[in-house]
Amino acid sequence: MGNHLAEMTAFELIRALAHDAVVGVVVTDTMVASPGPVILYANKAFGRLVGRDLGDILGQTPRFMQGRETRRETLDAFHRSLAAGERFHGYLTNYRGDGSKYRAEIDCRPLRTADGRIENFVAFEREVLRRIGRPAGSAAGRYEPASVSNDSLTAALRSLAIFEHA
Ligand SMILES: Cc1cc2nc3c(=O)[nH]c(=O)nc-3n(C[C@H](O)[C@H](O)[C@H](O)COP(=O)(O)O)c2cc1C
Repeated sequence: MGNHLAEMTAFELIRALAHDAVVGVVVTDTMVASPGPVILYANKAFGRLVGRDLGDILGQTPRFMQGRETRRETLDAFHRSLAAGERFHGYLTNYRGDGSKYRAEIDCRPLRTADGRIENFVAFEREVLRRIGRPAGSAAGRYEPASVSNDSLTAALRSLAIFEHA
C-alpha cells in the first residue's frame, strides 16, 4: 500500500477532514492584498455560520462579511499577521447574508510546504457570544462559543490547539 497521505497537500487533507465538520473551515489563496485573499474552499458549517450558499462564497474575498461594526484595528492586526505569515487568532463582528450581525472567533494559519513556502491560508471559525457578568480581562474571557453542545468537538479542537490561546 502506497503512502497516499504523504502525497496530499495540506489543502487536500484539510478539505477531506473539514467536509462534515461542525466548525466552520475556509481555505484561501495567499494573496493578502485586495482583491485577495480569494476563497478556494469552504465547508458546509462555514456556509451556515455566514448565512450564505457555498456557491456564493467561492471566489470571493472574506471581506464580504464585514460591515459598519467590524473594527478596523482588528482587521489591521489580521492583515499584519497574514503579511508576516503568522497565525491570527481574534474576534470580529461580521454580517450574514440576511444582514444580521454575529461575533466570529477566527483562528487563521498559513499552510506551508515542506520548504516553508506559504501555499494557502486556512481559518477555523465559530460564533461566540459575549459573556454576561464576567470581568472583561482578555478577549478570551469575554466570549464563549455560541454552541457548546458537542463536547467531543470541543475536545477535538482543543487537542489540535484550534481556538486555544498561545
Ligand atoms: C482564511 C481566511 C479567512 C478569513 N475570514 C474572515 C472572516 O470570516 N471575516 C472577516 O472579516 N475577515 C476574514 N478574513 C480577513 C480578510 O480577508 C482580510 O485579510 C482582512 O480584511 C484584512 O485585510 P485588509 O486590511 O486588506 O482588509 C479572512 C482571511 C483569511 C486568509
